[in-house]
Amino acid sequence: MSKLIWILHGPNLNLLGTREPGVYGSTTLAQIDEDLERYGRDRSVKVESFQSNHEGALVDRIQSARAAGVDFVVINPAAFTHTSVAIRDALAAVAVPFVEVHLSNIHRREPFRHHSYFSDLAVGVIAGLGPTGYRLALDYAIESMARDRG
Ligand code: DQA
Repeated sequence: MSKLIWILHGPNLNLLGTREPGVYGSTTLAQIDEDLERYGRDRSVKVESFQSNHEGALVDRIQSARAAGVDFVVINPAAFTHTSVAIRDALAAVAVPFVEVHLSNIHRREPFRHHSYFSDLAVGVIAGLGPTGYRLALDYAIESMARDRG
């Protein structure tokens, strides 16, 4: 059965392309998602993307990951990175491995962005590489699933 990877995007990432391009670049979320879906398809892996501005919607989605047969999650929790115990707890509850991605280098930015509620649970964290970060996280997910299969 083919593997399933979820890409989860938090609030305001639907505005990528026009949102603070000096910080987040000019690539739109649709372009990022299309690229990831194509990248997965070329490697026989199903990639599904979901964006929400609502904490509860992300919690609901994560809670459904096990039943949906999700093998790996790539998540950019956006502003919820720095605030959401609820999304953290949902990821801990479903225990699906995940990589945390940020377009910008949160450690070069305001002090309130330096703390993440996710990093200590994540398999790994990528920050500051723009959309390439998602691609690297996806690559890692595909590689690690193949490794686990032995
Ligand atoms: C972000 C960084 C967060 O601090 C911010 O709130 C975002 C995006 C990033 O991708 O760089 O919305 O997660």
